[in-house]
Amino acid sequence: MSAKRLLVVAHAPSDNTRRMLDAVIEGASAPDIEGIEVQALSPFEANPEHVLVASAVVLGTPENLGYMSGALKDFFDRIYYPCLERTQGLAYALYVRAGHDGTGTRRAVESITTGLRWRPAQPPLICRGPWQDAFVDQCRELGTLMAAGLEAGVF
Ligand SMILES: Cc1cc2nc3c(=O)[nH]c(=O)nc-3n(C[C@H](O)[C@H](O)[C@H](O)COP(=O)(O)O)c2cc1C
Repeated sequence: MSAKRLLVVAHAPSDNTRRMLDAVIEGASAPDIEGIEVQALSPFEANPEHVLVASAVVLGTPENLGYMSGALKDFFDRIYYPCLERTQGLAYALYVRAGHDGTGTRRAVESITTGLRWRPAQPPLICRGPWQDAFVDQCRELGTLMAAGLEAGVF
């Protein structure tokens, strides 16, 4: 049986957001989870073909000016119509690094994923406020939960 692919599309423009992304990848690549291939791409690299062959998606972005990063918005702008009829029900998870809020980004991403009819696999992870090392653990856990869910056939 071919491996299921977990696609991670995350914008990581700072050291902290890079640590969060690395933790998602690490968690999803846990050695006791089998048969899951993790593909992590910048939103600028990811295209509709990557989404069409994914079994689930993790989206990551900082909140800038009350919204998702321009990079993640660019990704959605490019994949929306090519994926609209072909990825309904796709399981996804979202994590946001927000200096002080995060609600605008959550709302904006959920509005687009609702349009795509993607299915949230878990509540959004909003890493809000001053930096905490616990964010790294939460991101690692998110990655593991997504990969383990795929392995178990939950989504
Ligand atoms: C131009 C700019 C706009 C920002 N706007 C917001 C915002 O609207 N809401 C928020 O929660 N944080 C905002 N932030 C903080 C970023 O979310 C935060 O710095 C970013 O996620 C990177 O996290 P780090 O500083 O821990 O590396 C902004 C940062 C910059 C540079």
